[in-house]
Amino acid sequence: MKEVVHEMFSEEQIQERIMEIAKQINKKYGNTPLHVIGVLKGSVFFFTELVKRLTMPVTIDFIAAGSYGDGMVSTGSLSIEKDLEGEIDDLHCLIVEDIVDTGNTLSKICKMLLARNPASVEFCALLDKPARRETEVQVEYIGFIIPDEFVVGYGLDYAQKYRNLPYVGRLEFIEE
Ligand code: IMP
Repeated sequence: MKEVVHEMFSEEQIQERIMEIAKQINKKYGNTPLHVIGVLKGSVFFFTELVKRLTMPVTIDFIAAGSYGDGMVSTGSLSIEKDLEGEIDDLHCLIVEDIVDTGNTLSKICKMLLARNPASVEFCALLDKPARRETEVQVEYIGFIIPDEFVVGYGLDYAQKYRNLPYVGRLEFIEE
């Protein structure tokens, strides 16, 4: 099988949208300190671009949750592969994810973090695939809503490939 990536959102479109989201977050939090938590590895490109544009005092941490293995379908059971380094009690937390698909990952992360007594928790995702939702999650800031397609690039992978593409594209498999 040959893999072909069709561009969906250009680097420029993504940058523009990230700027808009950052404005929304800056307006909402004002000068209130924000603890921004990136969900590894997919969110890293989005995370760094977003955090650079936040104007309140910011601290960062990362969490890694795995459910996809190396394929396109979630294995269903979520494991925390890397926990946060620091405590989050009394902190206003913003969780940054690459894409919300079934919603299972964010919902489990949300439950886990709420049990640690943060001041608040909000979610931000570059992409949202609402057609595949299994668990309702409230995502306050969304970059783009997409149809039920498998996408790669700008941090998103297929079998760990394509994360370095500067754009987001739909992945197509073609019989050779
Ligand atoms: P969820 O738990 O089903 O919402 O899955 C979230 C995770 O699945 C994301 O953080 C991604 O790592 C992965 N994922 C879901 N859809 C895609 C996709 O279209 N391309 C690449 N990764 C995806």
